[in-house]
Amino acid sequence: MDERISPAGRLAGTLRLPGDKSISHRYAMLAGIAEGRSVLHNYSTGADCASTLGTLRALGIRVAREGTDVTISGCGLDGLTQSREMLDAGNSGSTIRMLSGILAAQPFPTQITGDESLSRRPMGRILHPLELMGACISARDGRYPPLAIGPARLHAIDYTLPVASAQVKTCVLFAGLYADGTTTVREPARTRDHTEVALREFGAQLDVRPKVIAIEPRPRLLARELTVPGDLSSAAFFLVAALLVPGSRVVIEGVGLNPTRSALLDFLVSMGAGIQVRNLTVHGGEPVGDIEVAYSRVRGGVIEGNLTAEVIDEIPVLAVLGAASAEGLVVRDAAELRVKETDRIATVADNLRRMGIEVEVSADGLSVPGGQRFHAAELESFGDHRIAMAFAVAALAADGESVLHGAEAAGVSFPEFFSLLKNCG
Ligand code: S3P
Repeated sequence: MDERISPAGRLAGTLRLPGDKSISHRYAMLAGIAEGRSVLHNYSTGADCASTLGTLRALGIRVAREGTDVTISGCGLDGLTQSREMLDAGNSGSTIRMLSGILAAQPFPTQITGDESLSRRPMGRILHPLELMGACISARDGRYPPLAIGPARLHAIDYTLPVASAQVKTCVLFAGLYADGTTTVREPARTRDHTEVALREFGAQLDVRPKVIAIEPRPRLLARELTVPGDLSSAAFFLVAALLVPGSRVVIEGVGLNPTRSALLDFLVSMGAGIQVRNLTVHGGEPVGDIEVAYSRVRGGVIEGNLTAEVIDEIPVLAVLGAASAEGLVVRDAAELRVKETDRIATVADNLRRMGIEVEVSADGLSVPGGQRFHAAELESFGDHRIAMAFAVAALAADGESVLHGAEAAGVSFPEFFSLLKNCG
């Protein structure tokens, strides 16, 4: 689907965003293996989180959905049943990687696959720790979906993640629920901790220290009623849009502000962005608040080291902001961007160049000089939701009407994106 995007006058309004994608996946999976009926409010409307619900249904769990409320009748740690079909994770790396930790511990075999993009994404990072735990798991060419997972009994391990990945951390912690002792995961850099927070909410026992998480096996997980906070990664597109278009002022209510995700806000503030957070509360262990953003001339900055892992999903839209900033944006230590839904270093650079923006790429990052102007262009999502939304935002600051091909990709995490953007602009 093509979306035609004209330059925006200014953005204004108050919005609420669909539920956080990362938290929705975790709540759904844990609700599936908890005892009793969980109710999840404001569940993500994206296709990725629907893929997770589809896999749970295929494993014999009753899932009912009414609007953004999802009711999951959990079957306990040992109540999943063998799926008659191959599970389909769609476009969702979180679904295949996190769920595999649970599947590897079942007394029945499962196969799980995904779409073309997911079928090119690396799975060695979960195969390795799961094999150390005694899982029977194989992948196409040893590293790509589909995965074939055989029945196994898992052993506890003490595992140091070779790459900072919350999905891999989650996979090992979920497998640790079924292990024969305490499983420990060590992270090279802090990653989002929604799994640790959610596991505690459902009744698991964890010892959480900086970058070291230990989980006890075989807890009694109990059903919960929980509200998923608005997705900060979706909010990022509106924050940058308001920072790009003079005169804008937008309030986004009820956004998740977990400190392992909110480095984005600190980084924007360090660039000189007018951002304020209000009405902070905590739901289900997750901080939530309202964010107000006003158009500001931003300076620019450098994303590297631990910060890179903390804002990894926001880098495409931050690269857009970098071009309009005074001093530009430099991104380092971001080789992981090359194995996301697309090679995001390449797809960001491709679209920036289509808009006449100068950018230099390296193996693990990019550098966008500041003070540049966006020219209207034919843009391409390459089937990647965050690329679609980042360049819809760039098009708002262009000098004429742009066309975004493959705009429907936004639906993977944020189907309401274009209609909300129109309402604000
Ligand atoms: C996610 C972790 C990150 C992130 C992805 C969601 C999660 O991936 O990019 O969008 O929910 O745990 P990695 O674990 O591959 O870094």
